Amino acid sequence: MIKSEEQKTEFKRMLDYYDTPFTSNDQGTLITILKETQKIFGCVPNEEILEIARVMKSSEGILKSMIRRFPSLLGESATHTILMCNGERCENRKSFQLIKDIEKYLDCPVGQTTKDKKFELKTQHCLRRCMEGPNLNIDSDQYGAMTLEKFKEIVRKYK
Ligand code: FES
Repeated sequence: MIKSEEQKTEFKRMLDYYDTPFTSNDQGTLITILKETQKIFGCVPNEEILEIARVMKSSEGILKSMIRRFPSLLGESATHTILMCNGERCENRKSFQLIKDIEKYLDCPVGQTTKDKKFELKTQHCLRRCMEGPNLNIDSDQYGAMTLEKFKEIVRKYK
C-alpha cells in the first residue's frame, strides 16, 4: 500500500513512545498499538506489523492472529475472490437467484469489490463440478450445494 510521509512519521513517533524498557508487551498494549497503527493507515499494514513485532519483542504471527481475532482490527488488503458459477447446470439448482442474493448480502455487484475491499465478486461459466451445484469458490477453496445461509456462515471465516 502507498503510505504518505506524514503517516510514516506519525507511526514512528507513536512506536517510539512505546519503545522503552518499561513498556509491557502484554496483549492489551499490543492491541492498543495495533489500533493506533490502524488509525494512522486505515488498516494495519504488513510492513508495520513487522516493525511492531521487532520493537515490542513479539512476533508477526502473534500480531496477525490478534488482527484476525479482533473484529475492529483490519489487516492490509485481504481481498478474497468469490467466483460463482453461472453455468446452466448450477442454474437448474437456482444459482442465478443465489448470485443475486449474494450480491445483495455483500452489497456489491458482480465484477466489483466490496466497499471494505475484502471481497471481489466474479462469475464463471461452469466450475466443472456440475453435480455439486450451485458451486462457488472463495480463492482456492471450493464449495458446493451452496445456499445463502451456508454462504453467510462460510464467508465469516474470510473476514
Ligand atoms: S454448471 Fe456450475 S459447475 Fe458446471
